[in-house]
Amino acid sequence: MNLPWAEPYRIKTIEPIRRSTRAERESWIGSAKYNLFNLRSEQVYVDLITDSGTGAMSSAQWAEMMLGDESYAGATSYYKLKETIETVFGFPYFLPTHQGRAAENVLFSAMIGSGPESGKGLIIPGNSHFDTTKGHIEFRGAHAVDCTIDEAFDTQVEHPFKGNVDLKKLDAALSRKDVKAPLCLVTITCNSSGGQPVSMANLREVSALCRQYKVPVFFDSARFAENAYFIKTRESGYADKSIPAIVKEMFSYADGCTMSSKKDGIVNIGGFIGFRSQEAWRKASTFNIMFEGFNTYGGMAGRDMGALSVGLREACELDYLESRVGQVAYLGQRLTDYGIAVQRPYGGHAIFVDAKKFLPKVPKEEFQAQTLGVELYLEAGVRGVEIGALLADRDPDTHENRYPALELLRLAIPRRVYTNAHMDYVAAALANVKERADGIRRGYRVAWEAPIMRHFTVELTPAK
Ligand code: F0G
Repeated sequence: MNLPWAEPYRIKTIEPIRRSTRAERESWIGSAKYNLFNLRSEQVYVDLITDSGTGAMSSAQWAEMMLGDESYAGATSYYKLKETIETVFGFPYFLPTHQGRAAENVLFSAMIGSGPESGKGLIIPGNSHFDTTKGHIEFRGAHAVDCTIDEAFDTQVEHPFKGNVDLKKLDAALSRKDVKAPLCLVTITCNSSGGQPVSMANLREVSALCRQYKVPVFFDSARFAENAYFIKTRESGYADKSIPAIVKEMFSYADGCTMSSKKDGIVNIGGFIGFRSQEAWRKASTFNIMFEGFNTYGGMAGRDMGALSVGLREACELDYLESRVGQVAYLGQRLTDYGIAVQRPYGGHAIFVDAKKFLPKVPKEEFQAQTLGVELYLEAGVRGVEIGALLADRDPDTHENRYPALELLRLAIPRRVYTNAHMDYVAAALANVKERADGIRRGYRVAWEAPIMRHFTVELTPAK
């Protein structure tokens, strides 16, 4: 018999978490204005709001923390990270930033401009840009053009690479005469389409097409190792290649990358920008010094750069990726067994529950995925996050609500943190909500919202 995967580590330190009563949760979520971001972590039992910065570091990473060199300029920890980035990604130049969105801010300041009007007449094509990425683009007056393949927008369509860029859509965007594209941004894996990977063939084709138009290609690489694992297991010709070799080939098609190290770097904070060209690195470094810090720390402590240099390598270990992606699939399978529709195939860091199918009676104007998130919290103290109309925000030009094709409740699994018993608990909780789903007919209305990226701080009231 084939042996199943099991975690390639054992647990040395534990952090207690506590269950609560439904009455407590009702009071807490009301005080939180029905926004799960406003809950205190003690009010949550299993926290699947994000896989970002929430992973457990290894003993080797903690050891590296103790070796952290906190010198302002030229720290040893910086050079350890530089060597890792060159080895893993093949980029000779990089800038450390305090997290992924800081990398976006610095890179876009250099490539779009830094003022609110600087992006007028510019588009950034890509595959379902992440919300902070889109925020940085729209803040500058530029437009993010989503060129994701259509298959991504139907949760039940089976396609091995639902993060892929549709080359026809990309060509249409790049050939427009009324606007210009300073760069193309490919997100691997594509978070907003369900943690779905991009194939090697697609990365190669995107790169070739952009080269024809002389448009540089950057990868938003937060979950690059999970993407590499899917290439190895789903794309023909890669089964026998190692993860480091696949990662190297992926990044050979990019001119640079932004990175939120809080995901596949397996650290609690950090980010960077990778560059192939010294000229592009030089241009961005001025903004890095202004916004983040000097080029050899740029918003990171030396100890964190050290831990990241270890984490990036650990993320590329096959046993780790098998258990990581395996745990996500385990949760997906439990939910499927209960008849709950989720984005298929299962993604790399999270399971995305189809809230339109789960709560068809709730009107879309009352935020189906958010409503489901609140119900799951009330049921069992499990916190997910809405990927739907709240997150899609208002159109920057018309200020109308945008209703995306999918209303999803994302259950993001932190790296090396929860066991499959927690996954069983989460799945059973959602199955209980499903049993009473027919009676859930009303959702929420916005009582207050911020002008941009409203979902983080929005205040809601139950619709009547
Ligand atoms: N790009 C992607 C694909 C992301 O998923 C994120 C963050 C960022 C960029 C921004 O990085 O948080 O370090 O500033 N995603 C988190 C999430 C917040 O929950 O998916 P950051």
